Order: sequence, then structure tokens, then C-alpha cells
Amino acid sequence: MVTYRCARRIDGIAESGIRKLFDAGGPDAVNLGIGQPDFDTPDHIKEAAIRAIREGKTGYTPNAGIPELRTAIADKLKRENGLSYGPDRILVSAGGSEALHLAMMALVNEGDRVLVPDPGFVSYAPLASIAGGRPIGLPFDDTLHLDVEAAKERMDGARILVLNSPSNPTGMVEPESTIRALVEYAQDRHVTVISDEVYEHFIYESRHVSAARFGEDVITINATSKTYAMTGWRIGYLAAPKEYIDACIKVHQYCQACATSIAQYAAVAAYTGDQSPVAAMREEYRARRDLFYDGLSALGYSFPRPEGAFYVFLPIERDRIQEAVAKGLLIVPGSAFGNNAPDYARLSYATSRENLRRALDRFGTL
Ligand SMILES: Cc1ncc(COP(=O)(O)O)c(C=O)c1O
Repeated sequence: MVTYRCARRIDGIAESGIRKLFDAGGPDAVNLGIGQPDFDTPDHIKEAAIRAIREGKTGYTPNAGIPELRTAIADKLKRENGLSYGPDRILVSAGGSEALHLAMMALVNEGDRVLVPDPGFVSYAPLASIAGGRPIGLPFDDTLHLDVEAAKERMDGARILVLNSPSNPTGMVEPESTIRALVEYAQDRHVTVISDEVYEHFIYESRHVSAARFGEDVITINATSKTYAMTGWRIGYLAAPKEYIDACIKVHQYCQACATSIAQYAAVAAYTGDQSPVAAMREEYRARRDLFYDGLSALGYSFPRPEGAFYVFLPIERDRIQEAVAKGLLIVPGSAFGNNAPDYARLSYATSRENLRRALDRFGTL
């Protein structure tokens, strides 16, 4: 008999609580489970990809990405984020996910403490564990913002601090004062900051501030996925000190070789072309946020108005989450995002207003 043996590092890794939802629910289900834009990729970006195919730009690219894209990203970081990175400090990856994986693999040693928001994006803790690190959750306060004092208490001796504003799953935006305070505190203690900024363009009242404005030992992670409705194209990047880029390339060149060539040309069009589709998506998300938040409030739910991304993080008891899912209202339990928010659920409003109204009707029957 054959014994199929997998590595111990995989043993403790659970299946993503969100992936399960993809398969759940009948034809009548209202799916608020999936964190991906429901918009189509803008036409000028698709055209750039089609052009790249026609022109035969279909081979391997340099490991770190095509020079045009690294330059376009460097220009974007200067223009939008006030950050000065040369193209040699940018590594193009297969989505933000690979960028996070590379950063963990290149920086984390066995047993290193990796501070991750809890509740936080589903990949942070597993990627830290796969890299051999020990994920430690950072709690939130009752406004669903990071508890700064609790984060500071955990900082001594940690290797990495992961920040994510706007946050998946809370939909909250950290104020500049918090980002500055945490980055400066981390830098004083030689803790490297990984700042995941994939939702930077979906902020409804304030403006995004990049963590790298406040320290040098910071890795900025971003992607075309959310900003340009390009989740399936798999383009992301990390911008970091040269030493980290060189280390990340060592991993990337062997596991990925390069991000998809065609998608890289599309990403050049995304970063250098017309930005009005991004503003239009932001306005639509804002309108949906208001519709949904006001509707849930009218049903008696009491929680802070989400400030960014496209998520509502709703206080709701575990058995009512199960009741909702049983009634075809697909929402993600807070337990999918860590240990600190079992009595919450994440609701994505990256879906039509009509679907949101149907969801509100169903919430009314719980
Ligand atoms: C906070 C956060 N970071 C990173 C990612 C990964 O993005 P990508 O699709 O570019 O891999 C996601 C996707 O849901 C996310 O929510």
C-alpha cells in the first residue's frame, strides 16, 4: 500500500473559509462572500493585452517584470503615494498574493514572530506559517480599527508587522497618525513592516497614506487586482529596499519565473492609461456602501460605517450566521479571518445594488 506523505508545514494549514463558500448555495443564493470586484476590466487594458498577444509578446519576461511595467509602477508610486522607488526596487509578481508569499519566504526565519491583523486577510497567517514563522494576532478596538497599544505591546522581538489599510475584512481605514506611529515604533525595534495596500483606491472619506512614507524598512505590496478589476490577470508587485528585492527574486525566479507576459503589458496600460474607470468604481462602491449600511442600520444592526475597501464587517452571532447561510445569504463568518471576531461576518458589497436590496430583504427575515 502506498502512503502519501505531505510535509509537516502543511499540516496546520486550514482550507480557506472563503473558498468553501464558492461552492455553497443554490441558484437563488445572494452571494456576499466573494472579495472581488463585480466590474469588468476596462477596455483599454484588455486592448493592450490583445495587442501584446498579436505582437507575439508571449514568452518569458525578465524575472522581475518587464522594464516598462517596473517604470510605470515606480511612476505610480511617486505620483499617487509620494514614494521614491527606482524601477530596480520593484518586483512584479503573480498578484498581491505572490508578493506576500515572497516577502514572507525571503524575510522570515524559523520561529520568527509575524504580527498580523486579527481579524485579517485570510492569507497572512498561513503564509507566515508556511515560511516557518509564528503568526501573532493584532486585535482591533470597538471601532474596528487596530488597537495601537496592543500592537506596540507585541512588537518587541517580532520580525514582521503586517499592516493592511483599508482593511479586509473590516472595511476600515487607519488614520495617518496610526500608520505613522506603528511604522516608527516598528522601525525603532528593527521590525520590518509589510504594508498591503491593495484597496488604496477604495476609500470614501479620507485619503490613503502609504506606510513607506514613515520608514525605510518597509515593503509595500499592491496589485492591479482590485484597483482595475483585474483579479484573474494575476499582477501584483512589491516595492522594497534593494536587499529585499534581491532576496525575493531568488524565490520568485525558481517558483514562478515571471508573472504572465500578456498581463504585464495590460498592467502597463492600467497604470499609465485613463484612471477615470477607477474613480467610477469608487463612486459606485461608495453608493453601495451607503445603501447597504443604511439598510442594515434600519434593521437594527449597530456598527461603525465602513470607510474603505468593499466590505461590511457586521456584528452578528454565530448561530444567526448559520441561519443566514442556510437561507441562501452567503456571508463569511468572522472565524475565517482569525480568532478575534467569531461573532462577526464579512459581507462584500462588490455586487449589484439589486443584490444588496435582496440581501437586505433576507436579513429582515432572520
Ligand atoms: C488585503 C488583501 N491583500 C491581498 C490580496 C490578494 O490580491 P491578489 O488577487 O492580487 O493576489 C487580497 C485579495 O483578496 C486582499 O484582500
